[in-house]
Amino acid sequence: MKIGIFGTGMVGSAIGTKLVSLGHEVKMGSRTTANAKGAEWVKANGAKASQGTFADAAAYGEMLFNCTHGMASLDVLKQAGAQNLKGKVLVDVANSLDFSKGMPPSLAVCNTDSLGEQIQRSFPEVKVVKALNTVNCNLMVNPSVVKGDHDLFICGNDAQAKTKVVDILKNWFGWKSVIDLGDITAARATEMLLPIWVRLMGLYKSPNFNFKIVK
Ligand SMILES: NC(=O)c1ccc[n+]([C@@H]2O[C@H](COP(=O)([O-])OP(=O)(O)OC[C@H]3O[C@@H](n4cnc5c(N)ncnc54)[C@H](OP(=O)(O)O)[C@@H]3O)[C@@H](O)[C@H]2O)c1
Repeated sequence: MKIGIFGTGMVGSAIGTKLVSLGHEVKMGSRTTANAKGAEWVKANGAKASQGTFADAAAYGEMLFNCTHGMASLDVLKQAGAQNLKGKVLVDVANSLDFSKGMPPSLAVCNTDSLGEQIQRSFPEVKVVKALNTVNCNLMVNPSVVKGDHDLFICGNDAQAKTKVVDILKNWFGWKSVIDLGDITAARATEMLLPIWVRLMGLYKSPNFNFKIVK
């Protein structure tokens, strides 16, 4: 599959590297065509890896991942272009973390709205599936980094898009338990897990942990 990834940070790199290792062709998008981190990632990943602008990655991908700074994601998607996004599945991994007042970060949007919903509202013709935003990027593509059973949450309005994403999460990335929380408004809940995630990261001095729901 041809896949477009928005974002040259550790998340874009981790997901992109995993997808290339599985034989997919991946274009990593950023604000400029020759972003240094993007170039480094292309060099490390060979012929199936390429880079370009956000619009280049959006046009290239049959499927898309949003791995950009949450406070910039809406702007990034505007740069990607509604026409390039139209009809495609967009896995939204971003969190609207606001570090402007230092640590811990606050959420720029929460309670009655979420970044996932803002993206879906702004680009009604893209099929947003919120996923992977509650785990560190090491775990995203290799959940066995954390021993035992643990859960991943997804949500989104389009049932077929969610089925496709669950298939990728399970069969490409190795997730055993994916909990579908319903429509995109559930992104409020998964994004609001971040304050406790950040707190736990401080406590354990490691990002290698996850949530397990026990009934
Ligand atoms: N780190 C993790 O393990 C983890 C886990 C779960 C969720 N997340 C979420 O995943 C997302 C990516 O995290 P990350 O740590 O990999 O990278 P990041 O540093 O949060 O974001 C990097 C990307 O954001 C773009 N960006 C930053 N400011 C921008 C602006 N003003 N306008 C347009 N684009 C801008 C950058 O564009 P350029 O390439 O042009 O510089 C870059 O591609 C975040 O939303 C984060 O909260 C991260």
